[in-house]
Amino acid sequence: MLDDLKKLKKQALAEFEKLTSSEEVQDFKVKYLGRQGEFNKLLKNLKDIAIEEKPKVGKVANEVKQAILDKLESFGFQNDKESSAQGQSSDLTLPGLPVQSGSLHPNTLVQYQLEDIFQSLGFQVLEGPDLESEYYNFEALNIPADHPARETQDTFWLTNGNLLKTHTSAMQVRAIQKYGAPLRAIFPGRCFRYEATDASHDSTFYQLEGLMIDKDISIANLIAVMKELLKSVFNKDVKVRQRPGYFPFVEPGFELDINCLICGGQGCSVCKQSGWLELLPCGLVHPEVIRQGGLDPQEWSGFAFGLGLTRLVMMKYGIDDIRLLQGGDLRFLKQF
Ligand code: PHE
Repeated sequence: MLDDLKKLKKQALAEFEKLTSSEEVQDFKVKYLGRQGEFNKLLKNLKDIAIEEKPKVGKVANEVKQAILDKLESFGFQNDKESSAQGQSSDLTLPGLPVQSGSLHPNTLVQYQLEDIFQSLGFQVLEGPDLESEYYNFEALNIPADHPARETQDTFWLTNGNLLKTHTSAMQVRAIQKYGAPLRAIFPGRCFRYEATDASHDSTFYQLEGLMIDKDISIANLIAVMKELLKSVFNKDVKVRQRPGYFPFVEPGFELDINCLICGGQGCSVCKQSGWLELLPCGLVHPEVIRQGGLDPQEWSGFAFGLGLTRLVMMKYGIDDIRLLQGGDLRFLKQF
């Protein structure tokens, strides 16, 4: 086989020297490198040779092919020179070949839009780790080990006691500890729950947390920022309702629901037939959280909210099944 390859190389190179026109070069290319060409015919025998010989033969085969390609390429250059000498240079005005480009995921699109809105309001953008300690995810947020609130946020645990973060609130105390007060920050991030999957639940989803710490922060500040946010995102009036909500790390706490934009409030699988979607749990930061951050709650106060980024994306684009977002189906993703 090695001999055959060498013979083929010798023969091809000799033959190449005798070629005189581009048609002949084209024929030569087909004869040697075409699908049914000499080179491929030889390669068919590769399956019959001993396994330990294969790497060596493969290497020589590549060299032979490259030698022929080099010749063809050198002809291409000469050919170009020849034709430009005759005033027939390539037409540079011909349209180029289309370049395949991807697009941003709808989550990313909405996240960037929200980052712009909040940066214009003076918030900085921080990202926390996906892998969190039990302290930042629960204890620092006033959720001790025996607290029933843990049950609603089961997640994936590591054997060393760390966990995949269940909410972006895990960044609250990290941010206060690092930046102190006054503080205005948002934390977009991926969250995980040990959860059965359906049209509106997935084990992985995205939230965008907001935190503002300053002197004399009240619910009025919170509501003003929420209204600004919803107005910018939907470019229209969205019906909202506020209910009291319980979260151990805010006091008082609220749920801000929006009218389901998938069904217009009629009831569908996404809003569990209620016509409303929980979008924005929020409240005033609990004094204990401020203390865990290293600040004096007598002096500092704040508000926090945990926007369901994935839900917002679904509402904005009319996506009726959360599983499409992480499904990796290009037919879905190419629409954005
Ligand atoms: N972290 C809470 C959750 O995921 C939401 C929340 C954030 C509530 C901030 C209040 C304030 O359920």
